[in-house]
Amino acid sequence: MVISKEQILDAYRFRHACKEFDPGRRIPEDDFSFILETARLSPSSYGFEPWKFVVLQNPEIREKLKAHTWGAQKTLPTASHFVLLFARTKQELLPESDYIQSIMKDVQQLPPEAAENKGRVYRKFLESDFKLLDREGATDDWAGKQTYIALGNMMTAAALIGIDSCPIEGFEQDPINRILREEGINDGESFHLVCMLAFGYRVREPRPKTRREMSEIVEWK
Ligand SMILES: Cc1cc2nc3c(=O)[nH]c(=O)nc-3n(C[C@H](O)[C@H](O)[C@H](O)COP(=O)(O)O)c2cc1C
Repeated sequence: MVISKEQILDAYRFRHACKEFDPGRRIPEDDFSFILETARLSPSSYGFEPWKFVVLQNPEIREKLKAHTWGAQKTLPTASHFVLLFARTKQELLPESDYIQSIMKDVQQLPPEAAENKGRVYRKFLESDFKLLDREGATDDWAGKQTYIALGNMMTAAALIGIDSCPIEGFEQDPINRILREEGINDGESFHLVCMLAFGYRVREPRPKTRREMSEIVEWK
């Protein structure tokens, strides 16, 4: 089966930031696995997959988060599935870290010499090409940006199979991080929260999409 351009664009038009889900409808397991698989298959810099996804189904913890998540007042309680997107911290992403060493060896299956070379290129990238070690928070931003690629892919994949979603940055970082620590979800050592993503089925149709014209956002030289 070949999916047509119009079908794909229909999915992009179908996707909107859904503000409230039907609490009575649950996404089938197989559909949600498909959505997660598109996150797993997402591209990342050097293939280092600097992310983790926590599917938060516990209603009590969701309720605690709601107090500090102004952008998800109606989606946190009604989402069929609610995902927290985490990115790895700086210490995890340094070339000599256990994580980077193990992903090169165990996941990418690089022989020792190839891993050493890749590590050298990667160090130069961090140190001088992108200067990610100069500024406090720069590696966090970089890992977070990559995690948003998975975010986008999950939303589009969901829309393609008729599932609604809403990305959520509307939260207060300090209290949310405290709750995640208290609940044993994230201690802040290896990962930091970058975004949330709610999934479910809309209760009402959204207002028509607004977008700037193509000529205002694209330049050809
Ligand atoms: C990174 C990001 C964070 C967002 N945070 C929130 C949020 O906290 N709550 C919310 O209701 N919508 C949130 N949105 C949705 C945007 O407001 C929405 O995508 C935008 O207005 C365009 O509308 P559309 O997605 O319906 O086409 C967020 C979108 C993105 C990409």
